[in-house]
Amino acid sequence: MAETLLRVENVTKRFGGLVALDNVSLEVLRGERLGLIGPNGAGKTTLFNVISGIYKPEKGRIVFKGVDITGWPPHKITRLGIARTFQIVRPLSNLTVLDNVVVGALLREPDISRAREKALEVLETVGLYEKRNMLAKDLNLVEKKRLEVARALATSPELLLLDEVAAGLRPREVDELVGTLMELSRKGITMIMVEHVMRAVMNFAERIVVLHFGRKIAEGTPKEVANNPQVIEAYLGPQD
Ligand SMILES: Nc1ncnc2c1ncn2[C@@H]1O[C@H](COP(=O)(O)OP(=O)(O)O)[C@@H](O)[C@H]1O
Ligand SMILES: [Mg+2]
Repeated sequence: MAETLLRVENVTKRFGGLVALDNVSLEVLRGERLGLIGPNGAGKTTLFNVISGIYKPEKGRIVFKGVDITGWPPHKITRLGIARTFQIVRPLSNLTVLDNVVVGALLREPDISRAREKALEVLETVGLYEKRNMLAKDLNLVEKKRLEVARALATSPELLLLDEVAAGLRPREVDELVGTLMELSRKGITMIMVEHVMRAVMNFAERIVVLHFGRKIAEGTPKEVANNPQVIEAYLGPQD
């Protein structure tokens, strides 16, 4: 039996009167590739923000590796092994690609030369090694997305949260990025992919959870979820 790596238990997060997450529970097994989908505003990014410590939920718990991390500050959560990418890519524009990744690596590896080694290794993995001396701001969109993944990987995560890394990419670029993520999965990194690009999430995920207005409305294999009438209605709106 695979170990439960992450448990989200009855999490509620409000912004004023808006319930962004309404009693959401889910589990992720070690080594699993979970897709998290839902229309705009469903609460996907908010769930990542709660898991990674940016927001504290009003109700519920986040348990990672058996440790209750609810309310922990982000840097402590990173050190325990959770990394995330941001939907809006935000590299340190005037630093080189390499230095951007070194900054990530230093969160887990205080020795600068070892942090540099780790950064170079990660740049190789995401296919940015040749671009390591460019300024981050001079990268194109697909390279910036890869840099975002590299910065997260530099912290040696056991769980990687990917927030719309395929957005804005061409189909071929999406497939290449999914290929890179599959390689990481084979190396044992557990992943949750938030994605609107169905081509990416359907090819990548073993299991999918669907959020709608902050609630979990479905869960299953990509095929089950794609054929679920409630999911179809959530995406298309009521049809008559
Ligand atoms: N910091 C915030 N302050 C107020 N409302 C927010 C904040 N973050 C998210 N929301 C709201 O919470 C809901 C869920 O947002 P979000 O998690 O970003 O959705 P998704 O990522 O699924 O598109 C939306 O209605 C959004 O406007
Ligand atoms: Mg979002």
